[in-house]
Amino acid sequence: MTDQGRSIHSPSTRDQWWRDAVIYQIYPRSFASSRGPVGDLPGIASRLDYLRDLGVDAVWLSPFYGSPQHDAGYDVADYRAVDPRFGTLADAEALIARAHELGLRVVVDLVPNHTSWDHRWFREAIKAGPGSAERNRYMFRDGKNGGTEPPNNWTSVFGGPAWTRVADIPWVAGTPAAADQQYYLNLFDSSQPDLNWDNPEVHAEFRSILRFWLDRGVDGFRIDVAHGLVKDPALPDWTEHTEMLDAGTDADHATGHPVTPERPPMWDQDGVHAIYREWRSVLDEYGPDRLLVAEAWVQPEKRLARYVRDDEMNQAFNFAYLACPWDREALRRVVEESLTAMDAVGAPTTWVLSNHDVVRAASRLGLTVTGKGPNGIGPRDPQPDAEKGRRRARAWHMLTAALPGSYYIYQGEERDLPEATMLPDGVRQDPAFFRTNGTELGRDGCRVPLPWEAGKPGLGFSPTGGTWLPQPADWERFTVTREETDPDSGLHFFRRLLARRRALGLGIGGLKDVSPEVGGLAYINSAADHSRPDLLTVTAFDAPVPFPTGWRRRASSVPLDAAAAVIPPDTTVWFTR
Ligand code: GLC
Repeated sequence: MTDQGRSIHSPSTRDQWWRDAVIYQIYPRSFASSRGPVGDLPGIASRLDYLRDLGVDAVWLSPFYGSPQHDAGYDVADYRAVDPRFGTLADAEALIARAHELGLRVVVDLVPNHTSWDHRWFREAIKAGPGSAERNRYMFRDGKNGGTEPPNNWTSVFGGPAWTRVADIPWVAGTPAAADQQYYLNLFDSSQPDLNWDNPEVHAEFRSILRFWLDRGVDGFRIDVAHGLVKDPALPDWTEHTEMLDAGTDADHATGHPVTPERPPMWDQDGVHAIYREWRSVLDEYGPDRLLVAEAWVQPEKRLARYVRDDEMNQAFNFAYLACPWDREALRRVVEESLTAMDAVGAPTTWVLSNHDVVRAASRLGLTVTGKGPNGIGPRDPQPDAEKGRRRARAWHMLTAALPGSYYIYQGEERDLPEATMLPDGVRQDPAFFRTNGTELGRDGCRVPLPWEAGKPGLGFSPTGGTWLPQPADWERFTVTREETDPDSGLHFFRRLLARRRALGLGIGGLKDVSPEVGGLAYINSAADHSRPDLLTVTAFDAPVPFPTGWRRRASSVPLDAAAAVIPPDTTVWFTR
């Protein structure tokens, strides 16, 4: 069998820690709190042992900087400060130090596409008025038709227009700027004005912010909206709704057909790459091991690979994989395309199933139609099949853990945590919910504070029992207390999975596609020098797949009988010889 199959990726060496790193995303608002309803940095620090025991290599923290929290911290007012809700700069330093003690690297979020409207620069820009150097740090323009219409027809990713009139900013009322005729661009919320990356001052400021955090010992940065910083200078009209996934010729993975004919003027412009080259050289001043990872919703994968060329970033989130339907051929295509595209530039592929912007995989996969999923699920929507979703998520994770590259896990995924789908409208906080008048529910359902301890108020999230979003009534089963005592829990499953992945060095293995020979979606992961046994991973989708001959079962995504000889649907099994 080892002679069979088609090689789709050659083994590599661990030349960089991130080549095969398992990176755990912490969403600070919702991970753990030392005080009250909102998570904080001391809360995170107190739970780092848990992450070490889980077996991850690094944590990535979503923003904890000074912010009015109109977009949960992705609206940054002060890039060099910790928001008092999350703690102090000393807490951030202590957290980094503690993580390093435990052997965990720390990646922080950088939000360069926009600031908060509370940022000093934006306040100065409003005050200084049209034509000023201060306004030139952002994307201010005069309106059309004597200022009565926005400069173009772009819409915001969160819904509504992408331009806000200065006079419409709530805190401008009663100030001289209330007579202002200009508009500013906001691809996201109006509280998130887009920066002008044609301005060298903006470049200098971000180089300085990188150094600020590098000086504090961070191991890398996750770059928010990395495909959005540069806009087509003509700012031409764009008739489609602005969606993050618009960027580029997007192949529909079920059919392989392109669905977007043109590149939108706000995404994936060639000019962004010069910025990442600039940042690469800043990071290199701190040695060869600092990571840049791109949040770039760019397809096809070949286009995405441009962000991770030698002198740019090191990794890009694989959203094609995340958005792929639960379908053998679709997944097979995306796995191969991802590896081929990233191999061509020498970058590791990443594998991502969930994050703080999408419906959690354990629920998304329980919907009748799988794929990227809706923007939130609410009490009035058809509910996911929880059992099916959980089972498929585990099968997909087990397949993922056998793939070479870097593997991202979103907090709670390791405990099978589902989406909170019954949140009442009254508690929602996502700006997308408000800007679409509730037609899009938004992302609150994947951001509910984590349950930790059974029998405690707020399930141990905070000492007061407070949680900024309500936890579903049945979440006690997802606490560490409960999952510790159940050998088949998500927590035990993930600990075993990550330990095996590490022990076998699967993240730096070579990969052969043996799906036609074996059935289902089947790959052999092997070491460069055959220094350890080959691993065969087989996933069954709709149809059961017989065990391959000559291989011994090692692990499965659901418990199977000792006598089992067939992989049931929605299941992954690992074999060795
Ligand atoms: C990214 C973040 C998302 C945020 C948006 C605007 O997509 O992941 O949470 O709302 O950028 O900063």
